[in-house]
This record gives sequence, C-alpha cells and structure tokens, in this order.
Amino acid sequence: MLDRRSFLGSAAAASVRAPISAQALTSVPLPATDLHGRDADAYWRALRAQFLIPADVVNLNVGTVGSSPRPVLKAIFDGFEQTEQMTQTGSEDYPIWGYGSWDQYRRPFAEFMGARVEQMAILRNCTEANSYVANGFDMKPGDEVLISDEEHGSGEMPWMLRQRRYGVAVRKFAMPRPPKDAAEILNRINDAITPRTRIIFVSHISTTTGVVLPVKEIAALARSKGIVSAFDGAHAPGMIGVDLNDIGCDLYTGSMHKWLFATKGTGFLYLRDRGVMDRVWNTIATGGYDDPTRMADRYMQIGSSCIPTLMGLNAAIDLANGIGMDRIEARGRSLADYIHGEMVKRGAESWTSPDPALRGAIATVNIPPVQRMELQDWLWTNHKVRIRGGNPSKLRLATPYFLSKADIDRFLSLFDTFRKMKGLD
Ligand SMILES: Cc1ncc(COP(=O)(O)O)c(C=O)c1O
Repeated sequence: MLDRRSFLGSAAAASVRAPISAQALTSVPLPATDLHGRDADAYWRALRAQFLIPADVVNLNVGTVGSSPRPVLKAIFDGFEQTEQMTQTGSEDYPIWGYGSWDQYRRPFAEFMGARVEQMAILRNCTEANSYVANGFDMKPGDEVLISDEEHGSGEMPWMLRQRRYGVAVRKFAMPRPPKDAAEILNRINDAITPRTRIIFVSHISTTTGVVLPVKEIAALARSKGIVSAFDGAHAPGMIGVDLNDIGCDLYTGSMHKWLFATKGTGFLYLRDRGVMDRVWNTIATGGYDDPTRMADRYMQIGSSCIPTLMGLNAAIDLANGIGMDRIEARGRSLADYIHGEMVKRGAESWTSPDPALRGAIATVNIPPVQRMELQDWLWTNHKVRIRGGNPSKLRLATPYFLSKADIDRFLSLFDTFRKMKGLD
C-alpha cells in the first residue's frame, strides 16, 4: 500500500513530461517585445511556454521555489558541457565558484539589484545569507536584535541560535495583520526599539502574508538611531523592482531561485560599505576571508561550488531584463489583486494590506473553517493546482507573471467546489 508521501509523489509524476534535450530547449521562441503592445495575452502565453511546467498544472506557489524556464536551463546545460571539458585557459583556472571573485556573474546581478559589484556576494540561498548576518554581526551578550513575528525560519532561527549560544537578546514585534499603511508598521518597530537594539532584521516581503514592508523608511528610522538595518528579501528579486542603494539599508539577503526563476542554489548577501563589512564576520571561511580590500567578495569564498549555477543566474537576469521588471511587477500585482478580490468576495478574511504600496504578487487570505492542508492536498493530487498556506486556514497565493486569469479562475472554481463538497457553502 502507498503511504501519503509516495502517493503524492506518484500523482505528481503522472504529469511530468518526457526528458528534454538541451537542443529542444531553444525550440520555443521568446515573444517579440512589441507583442505586448499588440496582444498582451499572447505575449504572456508565449512566456508561459518557456516553462516546462505542464500546461495543465497551475502553480500558485513560486514563493517556496521557482521553476527555471528554458533559457535558464539551456545556460545551465551549456555551462556543464563547457566547464566539464576542463579546458580552462590558465593552468590555475578551474570551474569552481567559491574561490575568486567571479565578477562576470556578480556584476550583472548587482546591477539588476541597484548595487555595485563590490557590495554583492553571491551565496547559495537566502538561508545561508541570513546565517551570515545573524552569525557574523558583531554583538556583545545582552545586545538586542529586533525582528518581526513573521520571519521565515531561516531568518529567525539563526538569531535564536545566537541567543542560546552567545547570549544576545532576540526581541520581537507583532506585525499588524493586515497593516493598513506603512506608518502602522513603522510605529510598531519604533515602539519596540530599546537602548540595547543594535540591529533590526525584518523581511522585505513577509513570507507569512506577502506584505511588502516599507524598507526605505525602516532603514532611515534605524539609521537615525544608530541601528544597523538588515532585510531578508527572499521574495523580492524578480517579483518587484529593487534598488538596494536607494533603500539605504546596511545588509540585505535574498534568493534568486524563487521569483527570478534562476538556478536552485542561488542566494545573495548585500553589504552597503566597508564600515558594515568591518562589523560582519565571515561564517564560512577559506583563503581571503579576512582581506578587507576584497569587499563583499570575501563573503563568497565558500569552497567548491557550481559555476553553471551562476551561468543560469545570468540567463535569468537577461530574461527578466528582456521582459522588463516594471512589466513583470505590474503583471504580478494585477493577478494578485484579482485573486485577492475574488477570495474576499467569497467571504475570505484578508491578510493582504489595503495599501497598494504594501502589496506585491502574493495575496494572503484566511478562510476558516476550511482546513488549508486538506484543500492544498486535494487541489494538487486531484487537480494539479499547487497552492501553499499555513495551518489552520491561511492561503498564500503567489501570482508570477506566467499565470493567466484562466489559471486563477480554475483555482477559484475548484475552491468553490471544495467548499460545496465539504458542506461549507
Ligand atoms: C522570507 C524568507 N526568507 C528565507 C527563505 C529561505 O530561502 P532559501 O530557500 O533561498 O534559503 C524563505 C523561503 O521561503 C523566505 O520566505
């Protein structure tokens, strides 16, 4: 008899397509940029075709992990083919990210994020980058870090570890649910600051609700009190345009494998300047870790890692730039607004801010007495619709640009069916 896990595995496997060759990855052309002006639906349909996600699957959860589209996969496959020949020019050249500065991958990403190459370290995911911050930031026992009650485990736990091991104090403020405007969040942070607060660490986009926090204002508030600001931007790259130097924060972490659809195994740590770098110890150390002239590059000396991963990252940036972050952001927001509005019409309690400035491409609603895990399993195993939420009744609905209104309508109609089936109508 199948247990639940293997049953889920087999149901998902039923919709997996046949293996695809590197050559076949280029067989689906990217849409011409001007197609958007002529026929926006056709434009987004052509982009949907860049993803290997089968046509009958609706993916409303790129918030956990994204799917790399054809141009990214092609770059990765080609990257392996090139690098595995081991024919690098110099006798000391090897295809290993983890030694050296690899500016040809750091610079495009830094520029994509509104930063300079020397401020950016590419790491392997946001969890790793968050640990660099929590583990490495210079603090004495009794010094406080202020976090929200909506941090992801990989944002909160490294601080909890530091508290248990070294006696720094973790102080939490409660996020309003939902926040009606930026001031409400800023007031909560301001009220929670104490004379011992050394660093504020909060998400740019909450993993719990998708609320986009007013990071520029939080950074300014922190700076005005001599406190370091650090943001976990796991969901930001590829969902919304980000200009790190304009935000004015000291530290910023994130993932590229979620909304930017880059290779799994890509994350980053941004450090504003030498002053901040001097206050952040390396967590992983190898040669060069203590050379301040290397700037952010010294945090990416992490030992042998995979160069084709970075090649995929460059392709993901090219794709996003080709579409345009403004266009991607607007599309994600309008789909999220649509699904959110429809859920509210169905009586859902909104955990999404009414303030457009605090919204992105994630809508979150609470739908008691529906049990989200029951709904989530039913949608995926029976209908190939993937959502995620939190127990008991929260749904987090992520709307990347490749979704269509028809995909969302399919989810909505299934949601109605589920409620009828359970007698909850
Ligand atoms: C806010 C936040 N931070 C960190 C992470 C962990 O990201 P990664 O998988 O890149 O380590 C997540 C994952 O969902 C997240 O939502």
